[in-house]
Amino acid sequence: MCGIVAYIGKKKARPILIEGLKRLEYRGYDSAGVALIEKNAISIVKSKGRIAVLEDLIKEKTDTATVGIGHTRWATHGEPNTVNAHPHSDFTGKISLVHNGIIENYSTLKQWLIKEGVAFKSQTDTEVLANLIGYFYAKPSENDSNHSFEKAVQRALDMVVGTYGLAIICDDCPDTIIAAKKGSPLILGVGQNEYIIASDASAIVEHTQQAVYLSDNEMAVVNNSGFYTKTIDDINITKEVKDIEFSLDAIELNGYEHYMLKEIFEQPTALSTCLGGRIDTVNNKIVLGGIANLTRELTRAKKFIITSCGTAWHAGLIGEYLIEQIARIPVEVEYASELRYRNPIIEDGTFVIAISQSGETADTLAAIEMCKERGAVVMGAVNVVGSTIARTTDCGVYLRVGPEIGVASTKAFTAQVAVLTMLAIELGRRKHVGPAQTAAYLKELQAVPGKIASVLNMAEHIKQIAIEYSAENNWLFMGRGLNYPVALEGALKLKEISYIHAEGLPAAEMKHGPIALISKGTPAVFVATRGSQYEKIIGNIEEVRARGGKTIVVATQGDDEIKRCADHVIYVPDTIEEMQPMVNIVPLQILAYYAAVHRGYDVDKPRNLAKSVTVE
Ligand code: F6R
Repeated sequence: MCGIVAYIGKKKARPILIEGLKRLEYRGYDSAGVALIEKNAISIVKSKGRIAVLEDLIKEKTDTATVGIGHTRWATHGEPNTVNAHPHSDFTGKISLVHNGIIENYSTLKQWLIKEGVAFKSQTDTEVLANLIGYFYAKPSENDSNHSFEKAVQRALDMVVGTYGLAIICDDCPDTIIAAKKGSPLILGVGQNEYIIASDASAIVEHTQQAVYLSDNEMAVVNNSGFYTKTIDDINITKEVKDIEFSLDAIELNGYEHYMLKEIFEQPTALSTCLGGRIDTVNNKIVLGGIANLTRELTRAKKFIITSCGTAWHAGLIGEYLIEQIARIPVEVEYASELRYRNPIIEDGTFVIAISQSGETADTLAAIEMCKERGAVVMGAVNVVGSTIARTTDCGVYLRVGPEIGVASTKAFTAQVAVLTMLAIELGRRKHVGPAQTAAYLKELQAVPGKIASVLNMAEHIKQIAIEYSAENNWLFMGRGLNYPVALEGALKLKEISYIHAEGLPAAEMKHGPIALISKGTPAVFVATRGSQYEKIIGNIEEVRARGGKTIVVATQGDDEIKRCADHVIYVPDTIEEMQPMVNIVPLQILAYYAAVHRGYDVDKPRNLAKSVTVE
């Protein structure tokens, strides 16, 4: 949510910043800007809209600066316009900064600064921070005679309540960038005589695979000859330079029209990587290295609380069914945004599982912290290696699907479900599931990537269905049992990228209200693969048809009977009921994708959304 990139080195900064911003555009894209230091003066160019608009504007300017900062914004405080776009400068014009996060006490600080005679141009919380730094820079305390830029940053951040990832420049220090982090990711890429600061590694890998991951309350002071790191309260620290674990190739479109489509089609490979080395058919068990030290405790858990947001919450619901079904351990699934403000019952034997693709979602992080304070052990199922949630949890299993750039989550979802499936199987095996049943689970699990690959072969058929119904503005998605969360996820995919209103629900709930929405031609998508509730859902499909609804049914290959009540059938390969969600979601992702494309929307940058929700 919002992207930061900053460069200092020997090369021209501008093209590097623009390229970096393009890579980060998926994090927010309502406005963008850059500030460059040229001849000891800061010049800022910013605009409403996409990076392409900024790129056009900036073409006219000179291009010799080797130091600069850039930002792509997802608005929180203040409407998306040029004034509110970053970088923001202080009232003296000496300081400029880009900021991710929220300054919660900005209103109090602003009132105080106004009383001190400071004038404001924008409605943003970020300008308050710029002015606060400017204020302390203009009025250094006696101890600040050296490094007054650095000290001003520290004194300002000391007063701030909230979250920030920051890159800050000062025209008196033309070869310095200060980076600071609290609650919003920030990475310092370390190249050959050059440094790139960015909110995620995708803006760095083109230049270097080496990086320092700043932790909360830390800052880096970077100049042409090196960098040093310290805490915000001025204690020097040494940070390890680590390898960034993905290559440039992983974040290229590689011929696909959109990242979402690429990531849908990557699922067989991504899932194979997620499962790779974790299914031990020789010893008939699952091996999850990241939780190995706690597997005994997890097996004895009295209760799991799964917490997450959005798509990851849907994965959590599937986890609930699986862990209860296979391991017979009670599970509650909580939206992180609700859990963090509740008073949950966390007793001995309660374990928390936090699921997150980005590893930066603010609500999920807050829920984890709250549960930890109450004594819970928290396991993470996270994709981004080294992310805040990955570091905050006590143990965890990485999804290993590589960078997910498409704002609508696809491959991360199937991997989240895969991780929860593996956990359920292993806990079940350790408790009571016999070797034959375990072997059957492992065999089916191994076959899932191949089955997803055969669903992908149906893309053209699904596309035609999507096109036929793409003008309809109300859709229903229904499933029962494990297919109910799949229906929820299918509905979410459609609404977030095509702006079609879609409601997901347990099929049997339809007659308690939502059936009123069905009229002639209403598309109703049923996830009705063979399983324990198959006969029941057939009845629900008939009920929709009887009211003139159009039924699009995801069904098991070979199920000819289904044609009697379906207007359209999308066949998927059969697997055991517990594995079916990973296969069944794929046609719904494809359906949503083509409906959105046919409606003419930019699938990778849906309106109002951004990847990685680092604000509450
Ligand atoms: C939907 C989507 C979101 C995320 C949610 C949690 O396609 O991507 O609903 O699932 O914002 O994000 P993470 O998994 O990064 O915590």
